[in-house]
Amino acid sequence: MVSMSNSSSTPSPRALTQDELKTLVGQAALEYVVPGEWVGVGTGSTVNKFIEALGSIRHKIPGAVSSSLASTERLRALGIEVREANEVDWLAVYIDGADEIDPRGCMIKGGGAALTREKIVAAQAERFICIADASKQVPVLGKFPLPVEVIPMATTRIISQFAAMGGRAVLRMAGDKPLVTDNGQHLLDVHGLKIDKPLGFESLISQWPGVVTVGVFAFQRANICLLGTDAGVQTLRFD
Ligand code: A5P
Repeated sequence: MVSMSNSSSTPSPRALTQDELKTLVGQAALEYVVPGEWVGVGTGSTVNKFIEALGSIRHKIPGAVSSSLASTERLRALGIEVREANEVDWLAVYIDGADEIDPRGCMIKGGGAALTREKIVAAQAERFICIADASKQVPVLGKFPLPVEVIPMATTRIISQFAAMGGRAVLRMAGDKPLVTDNGQHLLDVHGLKIDKPLGFESLISQWPGVVTVGVFAFQRANICLLGTDAGVQTLRFD
């Protein structure tokens, strides 16, 4: 299960904003970057804070493997070399945010539409370090609509399959057109699920024809979560 420790971050006399909490955990993640090793980098507003901080130690690492075009652009703008996942066999760490994290380190991810590449890069890493503000901690996954990347021709049937289990799947739009992922596919956001057995759920949905990636990260769950709270950064370790 989970063990917890507090970092030495100075507690603030006022409540920190969500943005400040993201900055705190983004900076705290630097401690987990292994000098001389390629680092796996996720996607999202929390990871953007990590990328900014990573710029300050860029001379200590050969570079990064990125989970999205957006993160690649930010990394390169800071002079950090980015390689394709296929060019780097192994990563010491993968650092990424989450939309929800449960008491065992299982997560919902994909709010930023990058779930497929995130899962691919996470699978290459020895350890997953999740960085999140305290609002992401939940007892059971599912309040956040579950992102599922799908091949467009399977969308209608997959929506029906989720309906049969009590979920309401909605096609994610970008303006008046379906959002197209970095992989050229579509995304569903599934409302109304209660995912209390994340491993079994991830296994099941991953087998549905036309599902590219389900946004439950149970097989690639977090080993450590750096949680931003008003009392500083809490380190949650999952066995
Ligand atoms: C991107 O697809 C996601 O998995 C993000 O990691 C997740 O949505 C967290 O994003 P924020 O850090 O912006 O909350």
